[in-house]
Amino acid sequence: MTDPVAAGAQALAAGGLVAFPTETVYGLGGDALNVSAVGRIFAAKGRPTDHPLICHIASVDDLAALVAEVTPAARALADAFWPGPLTLVMTRSAAVPDAVTGGLDTVAVRIPDHPLALQLLQAFGGPVAAPSANRFGRPSPTRADDVRHELGDAVDVILDGGPCAIGVESTVLDLVSDPPQVLRPGGISAAEIARVIGSPVSATASGPARAPGMLEAHYAPGARVEVITADGAPTRAAELTGGGASVALLAPHAISPLPDAVLVLGPAGAPDAYASALYAAFRRADANGCQVILAVPPPPEGIGVAVRDRLTRAAAGSSPA
Ligand code: TXA
Ligand code: MG
Repeated sequence: MTDPVAAGAQALAAGGLVAFPTETVYGLGGDALNVSAVGRIFAAKGRPTDHPLICHIASVDDLAALVAEVTPAARALADAFWPGPLTLVMTRSAAVPDAVTGGLDTVAVRIPDHPLALQLLQAFGGPVAAPSANRFGRPSPTRADDVRHELGDAVDVILDGGPCAIGVESTVLDLVSDPPQVLRPGGISAAEIARVIGSPVSATASGPARAPGMLEAHYAPGARVEVITADGAPTRAAELTGGGASVALLAPHAISPLPDAVLVLGPAGAPDAYASALYAAFRRADANGCQVILAVPPPPEGIGVAVRDRLTRAAAGSSPA
Protein backbone atom coordinates (compact mmCIF):
# COMPACT_ATOMS: atom_id res chain seq x y z
CA MET A 1 0.00 0.00 0.00
CA THR A 2 1.33 3.45 -0.89
CA ASP A 3 1.96 5.78 2.00
CA PRO A 4 -0.37 8.78 1.41
CA VAL A 5 2.27 11.28 2.60
CA ALA A 6 4.85 9.85 0.18
CA ALA A 7 2.26 9.95 -2.61
CA GLY A 8 1.56 13.58 -1.73
CA ALA A 9 5.25 14.52 -1.75
CA GLN A 10 5.65 12.82 -5.15
CA ALA A 11 2.67 14.68 -6.54
CA LEU A 12 4.13 17.99 -5.33
CA ALA A 13 7.50 17.18 -6.90
CA ALA A 14 5.72 16.44 -10.19
CA GLY A 15 3.99 19.84 -10.16
CA GLY A 16 0.68 18.44 -8.91
CA LEU A 17 -1.76 19.61 -6.24
CA VAL A 18 -2.14 18.09 -2.78
CA ALA A 19 -4.85 19.00 -0.28
CA PHE A 20 -3.68 18.58 3.31
CA PRO A 21 -5.02 19.21 6.80
CA THR A 22 -3.65 21.96 9.02
CA GLU A 23 -4.72 22.96 12.53
CA THR A 24 -6.77 25.82 10.99
CA VAL A 25 -8.39 24.63 7.75
CA TYR A 26 -7.45 22.33 4.83
CA GLY A 27 -4.93 23.78 2.39
CA LEU A 28 -4.57 23.25 -1.38
CA GLY A 29 -0.82 22.87 -1.84
CA GLY A 30 1.56 23.13 -4.76
CA ASP A 31 5.34 23.59 -5.09
CA ALA A 32 5.80 27.28 -4.27
CA LEU A 33 8.86 27.53 -6.52
CA ASN A 34 7.14 25.94 -9.54
CA VAL A 35 5.22 28.60 -11.45
CA SER A 36 3.07 26.11 -13.34
CA ALA A 37 2.05 24.32 -10.11
CA VAL A 38 1.14 27.69 -8.61
CA GLY A 39 -0.93 28.44 -11.72
CA ARG A 40 -2.83 25.19 -11.18
CA ILE A 41 -3.74 26.30 -7.63
CA PHE A 42 -5.33 29.51 -8.92
CA ALA A 43 -7.15 27.62 -11.68
CA ALA A 44 -8.50 24.94 -9.29
CA LYS A 45 -9.82 27.57 -6.89
CA GLY A 46 -11.09 29.99 -9.53
CA ARG A 47 -9.09 32.64 -7.64
CA PRO A 48 -7.89 35.93 -9.20
CA THR A 49 -4.14 35.66 -9.80
CA ASP A 50 -3.27 38.91 -8.00
CA HIS A 51 -4.32 37.39 -4.66
CA PRO A 52 -1.19 36.19 -2.84
CA LEU A 53 -0.70 32.71 -1.37
CA ILE A 54 0.81 31.61 1.95
CA CYS A 55 4.05 29.61 1.77
CA HIS A 56 4.09 26.69 4.22
CA ILE A 57 7.44 25.49 5.54
CA ALA A 58 8.53 22.65 7.84
CA SER A 59 11.14 24.45 9.92
CA VAL A 60 12.22 27.97 10.90
CA ASP A 61 15.48 27.22 9.08
CA ASP A 62 13.51 27.30 5.81
CA LEU A 63 12.41 30.92 6.37
CA ALA A 64 15.68 32.64 5.41
CA ALA A 65 15.50 31.46 1.78
CA LEU A 66 12.09 33.08 1.27
CA VAL A 67 12.58 36.49 2.88
CA ALA A 68 15.01 39.38 2.48
CA GLU A 69 15.89 39.30 6.17
CA VAL A 70 14.82 37.31 9.23
CA THR A 71 14.19 40.27 11.53
CA PRO A 72 14.38 39.94 15.34
CA ALA A 73 10.58 40.30 15.56
CA ALA A 74 10.07 37.52 13.02
CA ARG A 75 12.52 35.28 14.87
CA ALA A 76 10.81 35.94 18.22
CA LEU A 77 7.32 35.28 16.80
CA ALA A 78 8.44 32.12 15.02
CA ASP A 79 10.02 30.83 18.23
CA ALA A 80 6.89 31.66 20.24
CA PHE A 81 4.11 30.53 17.89
CA TRP A 82 5.41 28.15 15.18
CA PRO A 83 4.22 25.59 14.38
CA GLY A 84 0.90 27.38 14.79
CA PRO A 85 -1.85 29.59 13.41
CA LEU A 86 0.27 32.70 12.71
CA THR A 87 1.22 33.81 9.18
CA LEU A 88 4.02 36.38 8.90
CA VAL A 89 4.10 38.81 5.96
CA MET A 90 7.70 39.90 5.29
CA THR A 91 9.79 41.40 2.48
CA ARG A 92 10.41 38.56 0.05
CA SER A 93 13.63 37.19 -1.41
CA ALA A 94 14.28 36.79 -5.14
CA ALA A 95 13.59 33.05 -4.78
CA VAL A 96 9.83 33.58 -4.42
CA PRO A 97 8.02 33.73 -7.78
CA ASP A 98 5.69 36.65 -8.57
CA ALA A 99 2.97 34.06 -9.12
CA VAL A 100 2.97 33.29 -5.36
CA THR A 101 2.89 36.90 -4.13
CA GLY A 102 0.57 38.31 -6.77
CA GLY A 103 3.41 40.64 -7.74
CA LEU A 104 3.76 42.11 -4.21
CA ASP A 105 7.25 42.61 -2.80
CA THR A 106 6.18 40.73 0.33
CA VAL A 107 5.61 37.04 1.04
CA ALA A 108 3.40 35.34 3.64
CA VAL A 109 4.91 32.34 5.50
CA ARG A 110 3.86 29.95 8.25
CA ILE A 111 4.61 26.54 9.78
CA PRO A 112 1.32 24.68 10.21
CA ASP A 113 0.71 22.69 13.39
CA HIS A 114 -0.56 19.36 12.10
CA PRO A 115 1.43 16.11 11.95
CA LEU A 116 0.30 15.24 8.39
CA ALA A 117 1.13 18.73 7.10
CA LEU A 118 4.56 18.63 8.71
CA GLN A 119 5.26 15.12 7.38
CA LEU A 120 4.24 16.23 3.89
CA LEU A 121 6.44 19.35 4.04
CA GLN A 122 9.40 17.35 5.32
CA ALA A 123 8.97 14.61 2.70
CA PHE A 124 8.68 17.18 -0.10
CA GLY A 125 11.60 19.24 1.18
CA GLY A 126 10.58 22.70 -0.07
CA PRO A 127 8.07 25.48 0.51
CA VAL A 128 4.45 24.66 -0.34
CA ALA A 129 2.13 27.45 -1.47
CA ALA A 130 -1.34 26.72 -0.13
CA PRO A 131 -4.51 28.74 0.09
CA SER A 132 -7.53 27.26 1.82
CA ALA A 133 -8.83 24.35 -0.28
CA ASN A 134 -12.18 25.91 -1.23
CA ARG A 135 -13.48 27.51 -4.42
CA PHE A 136 -12.93 31.28 -4.39
CA GLY A 137 -15.33 33.13 -2.08
CA ARG A 138 -16.67 29.98 -0.36
CA PRO A 139 -16.15 28.88 3.25
CA SER A 140 -12.83 27.15 3.95
CA PRO A 141 -13.00 23.34 4.24
CA THR A 142 -12.45 21.87 7.70
CA ARG A 143 -12.86 18.18 6.71
CA ALA A 144 -11.38 16.11 3.89
CA ASP A 145 -14.87 15.39 2.53
CA ASP A 146 -15.47 19.13 2.14
CA VAL A 147 -12.35 19.35 -0.04
CA ARG A 148 -13.53 16.41 -2.18
CA HIS A 149 -16.89 18.08 -2.55
CA GLU A 150 -15.43 21.49 -3.52
CA LEU A 151 -12.46 20.57 -5.67
CA GLY A 152 -12.82 16.87 -6.57
CA ASP A 153 -10.72 15.95 -9.60
CA ALA A 154 -8.73 19.20 -9.58
CA VAL A 155 -6.63 17.75 -6.72
CA ASP A 156 -4.14 14.91 -7.25
CA VAL A 157 -3.94 13.73 -3.62
CA ILE A 158 -6.14 14.52 -0.59
CA LEU A 159 -4.60 13.74 2.80
CA ASP A 160 -7.34 13.05 5.36
CA GLY A 161 -6.41 14.19 8.85
CA GLY A 162 -9.94 14.36 10.23
CA PRO A 163 -11.63 17.60 11.26
CA CYS A 164 -9.41 20.68 11.78
CA ALA A 165 -8.94 21.58 15.45
CA ILE A 166 -9.19 25.38 15.18
CA GLY A 167 -11.57 25.74 12.25
CA VAL A 168 -10.85 29.32 11.12
CA GLU A 169 -7.84 30.53 9.12
CA SER A 170 -4.55 31.69 10.66
CA THR A 171 -3.85 35.18 11.97
CA VAL A 172 -2.11 37.14 9.19
CA LEU A 173 0.41 39.64 10.58
CA ASP A 174 2.05 42.25 8.36
CA LEU A 175 5.56 42.71 9.77
CA VAL A 176 6.54 45.19 7.05
CA SER A 177 4.21 47.94 8.26
CA ASP A 178 5.15 49.97 11.32
CA PRO A 179 3.67 49.15 13.77
CA PRO A 180 3.00 45.57 12.65
CA GLN A 181 -0.61 45.08 11.67
CA VAL A 182 -3.02 42.17 11.93
CA LEU A 183 -4.51 41.85 8.42
CA ARG A 184 -6.75 38.92 9.35
CA PRO A 185 -7.65 37.88 12.92
CA GLY A 186 -7.13 34.20 13.78
CA GLY A 187 -5.92 31.86 16.49
CA ILE A 188 -3.15 34.18 17.78
CA SER A 189 -4.36 37.55 19.08
CA ALA A 190 -2.80 40.99 18.55
CA ALA A 191 -2.22 41.16 22.33
CA GLU A 192 -0.27 37.86 22.35
CA ILE A 193 1.84 39.12 19.43
CA ALA A 194 2.51 42.48 21.11
CA ARG A 195 3.64 40.69 24.28
CA VAL A 196 6.22 38.66 22.35
CA ILE A 197 7.69 41.51 20.29
CA GLY A 198 7.49 43.96 23.17
CA SER A 199 5.89 46.75 21.11
CA PRO A 200 2.39 47.73 19.97
CA VAL A 201 0.53 45.89 17.22
CA SER A 202 -2.31 47.36 15.20
CA ALA A 203 -5.32 45.09 15.56
CA THR A 204 -7.42 46.29 12.66
CA ALA A 205 -6.65 46.55 9.00
CA SER A 206 -7.16 49.93 7.37
CA GLY A 207 -6.89 51.18 3.81
CA PRO A 208 -7.70 49.27 0.62
CA ALA A 209 -7.97 45.48 0.66
CA ARG A 210 -4.49 44.09 0.13
CA ALA A 211 -5.35 40.44 0.06
CA PRO A 212 -8.27 38.10 -0.58
CA GLY A 213 -9.17 37.45 3.05
CA MET A 214 -9.72 41.17 3.34
CA LEU A 215 -12.43 41.25 0.71
CA GLU A 216 -15.88 41.44 2.20
CA ALA A 217 -17.42 38.84 -0.09
CA HIS A 218 -15.42 36.05 1.51
CA TYR A 219 -16.26 32.99 3.59
CA ALA A 220 -19.84 33.06 2.35
CA PRO A 221 -22.10 30.01 2.23
CA GLY A 222 -24.89 29.84 -0.35
CA ALA A 223 -27.42 30.86 2.30
CA ARG A 224 -27.71 34.49 3.35
CA VAL A 225 -26.06 35.11 6.74
CA GLU A 226 -27.71 37.51 9.20
CA VAL A 227 -25.77 38.39 12.34
CA ILE A 228 -28.26 38.83 15.18
CA THR A 229 -28.44 39.13 18.98
CA ALA A 230 -29.64 36.22 21.11
CA ASP A 231 -32.60 38.34 22.25
CA GLY A 232 -33.60 39.20 18.70
CA ALA A 233 -33.28 35.67 17.31
CA PRO A 234 -36.74 34.21 18.25
CA THR A 235 -38.68 37.09 16.66
CA ARG A 236 -36.54 37.18 13.52
CA ALA A 237 -36.74 33.39 13.13
CA ALA A 238 -40.54 33.50 13.44
CA GLU A 239 -40.74 36.36 10.92
CA LEU A 240 -38.62 34.54 8.36
CA THR A 241 -40.23 31.11 8.71
CA GLY A 242 -43.67 32.80 8.72
CA GLY A 243 -42.74 34.33 5.36
CA GLY A 244 -41.91 30.86 4.02
CA ALA A 245 -38.12 31.05 4.27
CA SER A 246 -36.08 28.02 5.28
CA VAL A 247 -33.96 29.10 8.25
CA ALA A 248 -30.95 27.79 10.19
CA LEU A 249 -29.65 29.14 13.50
CA LEU A 250 -26.10 29.13 14.86
CA ALA A 251 -25.59 30.42 18.40
CA PRO A 252 -23.20 29.89 21.31
CA HIS A 253 -26.04 28.63 23.53
CA ALA A 254 -29.59 27.28 23.25
CA ILE A 255 -32.17 29.85 22.10
CA SER A 256 -35.91 29.61 22.78
CA PRO A 257 -38.64 29.80 21.76
CA LEU A 258 -37.89 28.90 18.14
CA PRO A 259 -40.26 27.76 15.37
CA ASP A 260 -40.00 23.96 14.85
CA ALA A 261 -38.98 24.51 11.22
CA VAL A 262 -35.68 26.15 12.20
CA LEU A 263 -32.58 23.97 11.65
CA VAL A 264 -30.53 24.42 14.81
CA LEU A 265 -26.79 24.24 14.00
CA GLY A 266 -25.42 23.81 17.48
CA PRO A 267 -25.42 25.16 20.15
CA ALA A 268 -21.89 25.98 19.16
CA GLY A 269 -20.61 26.58 22.70
CA ALA A 270 -17.61 28.63 23.80
CA PRO A 271 -15.57 30.57 21.18
CA ASP A 272 -13.16 27.65 20.55
CA ALA A 273 -15.97 25.20 19.87
CA TYR A 274 -17.86 27.80 17.84
CA ALA A 275 -14.78 28.37 15.63
CA SER A 276 -14.26 24.68 14.94
CA ALA A 277 -17.97 24.21 14.16
CA LEU A 278 -18.44 27.37 12.03
CA TYR A 279 -17.67 26.33 8.44
CA ALA A 280 -19.14 22.83 8.82
CA ALA A 281 -22.32 24.52 10.09
CA PHE A 282 -22.39 26.78 7.01
CA ARG A 283 -22.03 23.73 4.79
CA ARG A 284 -24.74 21.81 6.68
CA ALA A 285 -27.15 24.72 6.19
CA ASP A 286 -26.41 24.72 2.46
CA ALA A 287 -26.81 20.93 2.22
CA ASN A 288 -30.25 21.32 3.81
CA GLY A 289 -31.27 24.01 1.34
CA CYS A 290 -31.50 26.76 3.97
CA GLN A 291 -32.02 30.27 2.59
CA VAL A 292 -31.02 32.19 5.72
CA ILE A 293 -28.54 31.46 8.51
CA LEU A 294 -29.23 33.47 11.66
CA ALA A 295 -25.90 33.74 13.51
CA VAL A 296 -25.59 34.87 17.12
CA PRO A 297 -21.86 35.64 17.46
CA PRO A 298 -19.69 34.39 20.34
CA PRO A 299 -18.19 36.99 22.71
CA PRO A 300 -15.08 38.76 21.31
CA GLU A 301 -12.70 36.74 23.48
CA GLY A 302 -9.77 34.71 22.11
CA ILE A 303 -10.71 33.11 18.81
CA GLY A 304 -14.15 34.75 19.19
CA VAL A 305 -12.66 37.86 17.52
CA ALA A 306 -11.83 35.81 14.40
CA VAL A 307 -15.25 34.13 14.39
CA ARG A 308 -17.00 37.51 14.55
CA ASP A 309 -14.79 38.75 11.67
CA ARG A 310 -15.78 35.75 9.50
CA LEU A 311 -19.48 36.10 10.37
CA THR A 312 -19.45 39.80 9.46
CA ARG A 313 -17.72 39.09 6.16
CA ALA A 314 -20.07 36.21 5.39
CA ALA A 315 -23.04 38.47 6.11
CA ALA A 316 -21.65 41.17 3.81
CA GLY A 317 -20.72 38.76 1.06
CA SER A 318 -23.59 36.36 0.72
CA SER A 319 -26.27 36.83 -1.88
CA PRO A 320 -29.85 37.83 -0.98
CA ALA A 321 -32.06 34.83 -0.17
O1 TXA B 1 -4.91 29.09 8.06
C1 TXA B 1 -4.51 29.47 6.95
O2 TXA B 1 -3.86 30.52 6.81
C2 TXA B 1 -4.84 28.60 5.74
C3 TXA B 1 -4.06 27.30 5.86
C4 TXA B 1 -4.24 26.40 4.67
O3 TXA B 1 -2.70 27.59 6.09
N1 TXA B 1 -4.55 29.27 4.52
C5 TXA B 1 -5.27 30.31 4.05
O4 TXA B 1 -4.85 30.78 2.82
O5 TXA B 1 -6.21 30.80 4.66
P1 TXA B 1 -5.72 31.78 1.92
O6 TXA B 1 -5.01 31.87 0.61
O7 TXA B 1 -7.12 31.33 1.89
O8 TXA B 1 -5.54 33.16 2.62
C6 TXA B 1 -4.26 33.77 2.53
C7 TXA B 1 -4.26 35.08 3.22
C8 TXA B 1 -4.87 36.15 2.39
O9 TXA B 1 -6.19 36.34 2.70
C9 TXA B 1 -4.03 37.36 2.76
O10 TXA B 1 -4.73 38.03 3.81
C10 TXA B 1 -2.75 36.82 3.25
O11 TXA B 1 -2.90 35.45 3.41
N2 TXA B 1 -1.58 37.09 2.41
C11 TXA B 1 -0.84 36.22 1.64
N3 TXA B 1 0.22 36.83 1.11
C12 TXA B 1 0.20 38.10 1.53
C13 TXA B 1 1.03 39.24 1.31
N4 TXA B 1 2.14 39.16 0.59
N5 TXA B 1 0.67 40.40 1.90
C14 TXA B 1 -0.44 40.49 2.65
N6 TXA B 1 -1.27 39.43 2.91
C15 TXA B 1 -0.95 38.27 2.35
MG1 MG C 1 -9.09 31.25 1.82
